[in-house]
Amino acid sequence: MPTTPQIPTNAPFNEAQRLWLNGYIAGIISQSATERSSQESEKKKTKKRIPIVFASQSGNSQSLAEQFGNELENTGFEAPVYGAEEFEDFDLTNEEFLLLISSTWGDGDPPDNAVDFWNHITSEDHPRLEKLQYSVLGLGDKNYLHFCAMGEKFDSRLKELGAKRLTPRGECDVDYEETAENWFNGVLKKLDTPIKKETSKVNTDAYSKKNPFSAKVLLNKNLNEQESQKQTHHIEFDLSGSNLSYEAGDVLGIYPTNDPELIDELITNLNFDPDELVDDKKLKEILLYDFDIRNLTKDFVLAWLDKSSSESLGQTIKNTSLEEYITGREIIDLIVDYPVIFSEPKQFLSLLRKLSPRLYSISSSPNANIDKVHITVAKVSYESHGRSRNGVCSAYLADRCRKNDTTNVFLQSSKHFKLPQDSSIPIIMVGPGTGIAPFRAFLQEREFLKSSGKSWLFFGNPHEGTDFLYKQELMDFQNKGILSKLSTAWSRDQENKIYVQDVMAQEGKEIWSWLNEGAYFYVCGDAKYMAKDVDSCLHEIIEEHGKVNSESYIKEMKKEKRYQRDVY
Ligand SMILES: Cc1cc2nc3c(=O)[nH]c(=O)nc-3n(C[C@H](O)[C@H](O)[C@H](O)COP(=O)(O)O)c2cc1C
Repeated sequence: MPTTPQIPTNAPFNEAQRLWLNGYIAGIISQSATERSSQESEKKKTKKRIPIVFASQSGNSQSLAEQFGNELENTGFEAPVYGAEEFEDFDLTNEEFLLLISSTWGDGDPPDNAVDFWNHITSEDHPRLEKLQYSVLGLGDKNYLHFCAMGEKFDSRLKELGAKRLTPRGECDVDYEETAENWFNGVLKKLDTPIKKETSKVNTDAYSKKNPFSAKVLLNKNLNEQESQKQTHHIEFDLSGSNLSYEAGDVLGIYPTNDPELIDELITNLNFDPDELVDDKKLKEILLYDFDIRNLTKDFVLAWLDKSSSESLGQTIKNTSLEEYITGREIIDLIVDYPVIFSEPKQFLSLLRKLSPRLYSISSSPNANIDKVHITVAKVSYESHGRSRNGVCSAYLADRCRKNDTTNVFLQSSKHFKLPQDSSIPIIMVGPGTGIAPFRAFLQEREFLKSSGKSWLFFGNPHEGTDFLYKQELMDFQNKGILSKLSTAWSRDQENKIYVQDVMAQEGKEIWSWLNEGAYFYVCGDAKYMAKDVDSCLHEIIEEHGKVNSESYIKEMKKEKRYQRDVY
C-alpha cells in the first residue's frame, strides 16, 4: 500500500508545525484519491454494457466472442464475454444489450456448453425481456440440413420473449470470418460507434488460418492392417521454422487440394478447357485449390435447377425432397445427370463455395515431439447412387499427401479440451476409432510431465487383429504405468456387437469410484451415435452406482470442466 509522504524530522520546522504540515498533506492526498476513484466509478457507470454470450463446441464462436469483446472494450464499452454455460452469472432481465454467437451441432442442436442455457431460456416461466436489445450471429455449415438452426432458434426465442432485434441475424457458413465481421460492423453502426478501419498490416511472419504454414510431411502410414475395411493414417508434419506452438488437446487445420480425377471428370462434362485462364489463373489450378467441387448444398441444387430448367430435376426434388435428393449425392451427379451449358467457366465457379480447411484433433504432445505435429485421420470412402465417393480432405491426406510433400497447415487452440492443470487428477478417456487422437497426445504429455494422476482409456474399433490403432504404444504406456487401465471394445469380433459404452457399463462401479475421486471425463470421436450413447451410459452409471441425480451431477461436472467432449 502506498504510504503518505511525511515531513522529515530534520526539516526546519518545530514539532507543532511539522504535525500540522503532515496532516495537511495527508488530507490533500486522500481527497484527490477519493475524487479519482469516484471519477473512475462514474466513468464505469456511464460505459454502455454489452455482454457477449457464446455457444460453442469447437471454439469458433468463442474466438469470435473474445475478439469482438476486445474490440468493444477498446471502443469504450463494457463487454464481458460469457460461455453459455455460465448463464447463471448474468441476468438477461436486467441487461439492456446482448450479443449472442451460437454454432449448431448434431442435427440442428445446441453445442454442449449451451444445452442448459437453451433449456433455461425456453422454459415456460422464463421472464419477459422487453428491455433487451439483441443481435444473434449463427455459425454453421451449409452441408448440414439444419444450417445455422441454433442461431435461428435463439433469435426467434429472444424475439418471442419481447426483446428487440438490434440488427438482423448473421449466418456464417464454414468460411465464417468475413460474414462475422460484417455482422459485427452492423452492430457497431447501430451503437453509433465508428467502424474500425484495418490499420495494422497483417504480420506476414505469423502463420495462421489466413496465412498457413507449408509443412513438410515427415511420415504417413496406415495404422490398420492390410485386410482391414478401414484406413486410418498416422501423419507427422514438420513445424520447424514456423514458430507455431500448440498444446495437447488442440487441433490442426489442413488445407486440402481436390482430387485431380474428379477435376478431369468435371471439366470434361462441362466442356471446359482446363488451361483456360480465369483472372490470370488456369481453370484446372482454380479447381485444384480454390473451390469445393464435391459437397452439394441446397443452394447449389436450386441454382442448378434454375440454370438447367430441367423438368426432370424439378420433378425428382418434388417427388422426394431437397434433403433426400442431396443425401449421398455430389456436385458431379448434377453435372452428369442434368447437363448445363455455361458460356464461360466463371458462371460455373460463381455457384461454388470456397474450399475450406478441415480440422483434426492433434495426436501428439508438443513436449514429446519438438517441432512436430501428428494427426490421426480415417479415410472417408463409400458407395452411393452407383458411384464411389471420398471425403475431400481425408482422401487428400490418405492418398495424395506423401512423405516430403508439403501441406498448408495452421493451429487452432481447443480451450474446451484440455488436461487438468493438476496432473495428479485421474482422467477417464473414451476415444474409439480416430477418437484416440487427443488421448495419445494426453498420454505423451502426462509421461513428459511425470504426472502421478491415474488414467483410463476406453478404445474400440471393429477388429482387434486389424484395427488396434497404436497398439504397441498403448502397451508401452501401460507397462510404464502412464496408462493405468485400458478397456477395449472390438465391435465385430463376436456375434453381438460390443461398443465402448457397453464396456463402460460393465465397469460402471469403478468408473463411479474414479469420478468420486474427482476424475475428469473426456469423450472424443463420432458425435451422431457414440457420444450420445456414452453420455446416456454415463448418466446410468451415476444413477446406479452413485445413487445421485445424474442430471445435476453432470451439470456440476460440466461447470467444473470435468466433462469435456471433442466430437464430430
Ligand atoms: C458433428 C457436427 C455436427 C454439425 N451440425 C451442424 C448442423 O446441424 N447445422 C449447421 O449449420 N452446422 C453444423 N455443424 C457445423 C458447425 O456448426 C460449424 O463447424 C461451426 O463453425 C462450429 O462452431 P464452434 O466451433 O463455435 O462450435 C456441425 C459440425 C459438426 C462437426
